[in-house]
Amino acid sequence: MQCSWKAVILLGLASIAIQYTAIRTLTGKTFQLCPVPSALNCSQGPEGEALGGLCEEFPYYFYNNNNNSKKVHILILATTRSGSSFVGQLFNHHSDVFYLFEPLYHVQATLIPHFTHSRNAADRRVMLGASRDLLRSLYDCDLYFLESYIKPQPANHTTDKLFRRGASKALCSPPLCDALSPTEAYLEEGECIRKCASLNLTQAAESCRERRHVAIKTVRIPEIGDLRALIEDPRLNLKVIQLVRDPRGILSSRIETFRDTYRLWRIWRATGRKPYNLDLTQLSTICEDVLRSISTVSSRPPWLRGRYMLVRYEDLAHNPLLKTREIYDFLGLSMEKSVEEWIRNNTRGSNDVSAKHKYGTVRDSAANAEIWRLKLSHEIVDHTQTICQQVLEELGYRAVNSPEELKNMSLSLVEDKSFVPFL
Ligand SMILES: *[C@@H]1O[C@H](CO)[C@@H](O)[C@H](O)[C@H]1NC(C)=O
Ligand SMILES: *[C@@H]1O[C@H](CO)[C@@H](O)[C@H](O)[C@H]1NC(C)=O
Ligand SMILES: *[C@@H]1O[C@H](CO)[C@@H](O)[C@H](O)[C@H]1NC(C)=O
Ligand SMILES: *[C@@H]1O[C@H](CO)[C@@H](O)[C@H](O)[C@H]1NC(C)=O
Ligand SMILES: *[C@@H]1O[C@H](CO)[C@@H](O)[C@H](O)[C@H]1NC(C)=O
Ligand SMILES: *[C@@H]1O[C@H](CO)[C@@H](O)[C@H](O)[C@H]1NC(C)=O
Repeated sequence: MQCSWKAVILLGLASIAIQYTAIRTLTGKTFQLCPVPSALNCSQGPEGEALGGLCEEFPYYFYNNNNNSKKVHILILATTRSGSSFVGQLFNHHSDVFYLFEPLYHVQATLIPHFTHSRNAADRRVMLGASRDLLRSLYDCDLYFLESYIKPQPANHTTDKLFRRGASKALCSPPLCDALSPTEAYLEEGECIRKCASLNLTQAAESCRERRHVAIKTVRIPEIGDLRALIEDPRLNLKVIQLVRDPRGILSSRIETFRDTYRLWRIWRATGRKPYNLDLTQLSTICEDVLRSISTVSSRPPWLRGRYMLVRYEDLAHNPLLKTREIYDFLGLSMEKSVEEWIRNNTRGSNDVSAKHKYGTVRDSAANAEIWRLKLSHEIVDHTQTICQQVLEELGYRAVNSPEELKNMSLSLVEDKSFVPFL
C-alpha cells in the first residue's frame, strides 16, 4: 500500500494529539517533558528512539513525578560481585519500599543445590520458570509462596530461615521485630538475626502491602530477556535496573569471595601458571549473559520501553548521589532524606570511618571499584580481555596492553559513556 505524505502528516498529528490527551489525563499537571528548552528535540521516533540531540544527555527527559501515579515495582538485575548489595540499599532505606534481598536464593537452593556460576542450560531453564512465578507472587506481597522453597518448611507461617532476612530493613523493624530499643528504627543485619523473633510471614505480607513499592534484588536471572513475561504484565508495572560492572572487577572480587569455587583462579594468580582444568565458563558466562542483555536491549523491543535502565557500578561508585537521583527519576519515585543519608554514611565523604559497615557495601566506593587492578595479574586480565572483548567495548571499559598500564591507577579504565534509558 502506498502512503501519501498527507496521510503521514495526519497520522502524526493524530498520534501527537492522542498522546498529549493521554498524558494530560494520566498525570495531571506535574508532568514534565524535558529539562531542556526544546521539547521538540525530545520527541520519539516510531520505534521509541530518541530523536533529539540535547535530550540524549539527560537520562530522564520523560518522567512523571506525580506521587498519585501507579505503584511501581523494581527489580535489580545483577550478577554476583557487581555491587548489587549496594544498589539494593538505595531502595532498602526508602520508607515506601519493601525490599527483599535475593529471595530467589531459596529457589536455587531447592532446585539446583550445587550452584557454581557456570553455564548449564537445563539448570537455568528449571530455575527460570520457578523464579518468575515466585517473583510475580512476591511483587503481589504473597510471601506464603516462598514457603515451599524454604527448608525446613515454615510451620504456622513463621520461619527463621529466610535467606539474609537481616538485609531487609522492613523485616528488621516493628512490627516484624519487637526487640528494638525506643531509639532504634530498625536493627542492622547481625543484630536483626540475633535478636528478632522468628519471622511471621503473615505480618511480613501485611507490612509489604502497606508500602507502595516492592524492590527485589537478584543475581539469579541471566539476562533481561528472561524477564519479558513479568515486564509485560501490566499489573506489576515492573521497572528493571540492570547493574553491570567491569568483568575484570567481577572476576577479581569473586576470586576473593568464593574461595572454593574459584580456587583454580587463585592458583593461577599465585603461580602464574594456568591450571589445565580451570573452568573458563565461570568467566565467559559473566560476559555472555551481559552481551545477551545488551543485544536484547539494542533491538529496542516495544515491551521494554520505559522499563529499563542500565547502570554501571563504576559510575555509581564515583558519583553515588547523582547516579542515585537519576535512578529514582527514571523510576518516577522521589528520593528521601534517609536514602541520601545512607549514601553519605556509606560512601566516600563519610567522616565516620569507624562506623558499622556490616553490609558488603563500601566506604570508599570509588577506590574500591578499581581495586581489582592491583589484585589481578596482567596475564589473567589479558585473558579476560580476550574473552570479554565485546562487553568491554559495549560498556566503555578500556583494555590494558601492559602490566604498567594495568597498575597505573592515574590512568582510568572507565570511559565516559552515558546510557540513556530506553523510553
Ligand atoms: C534540535 O537540535 C538540533 C541540534 O541537535 C538543533 O540544530 C535544532 O535547532 C533543534 N531544534 C529545535 C526546534 O530547537
Ligand atoms: C503527594 O505527596 C505529598 C507529600 O507526601 C502529599 O501531601 C500530597 O497530597 C500527595 N499528592 C497526591 C496527588 O497524592
Ligand atoms: C502451630 O500452631 C498450632 C495452633 O496454634 C500449634 O498447636 C502448633 O504447635 C504450632 N506449630 C508449630 C510448629 O509451632
Ligand atoms: C502472625 O501474625 C498474624 C497477624 O498479625 C497473627 O494472626 C498470627 O497469630 C501470627 N502467627 C504466629 C505464629 O504468631
Ligand atoms: C548515618 O550515620 C549517623 C551517625 O552515625 C546515624 O545517626 C544515622 O542513623 C545514619 N543514617 C543512616 C540512614 O544510616
Ligand atoms: C601513568 O599514566 C599517566 C596518564 O596517562 C601518565 O602520564 C604517566 O606517565 C603514567 N605513569 C607511569 C609510571 O607509567
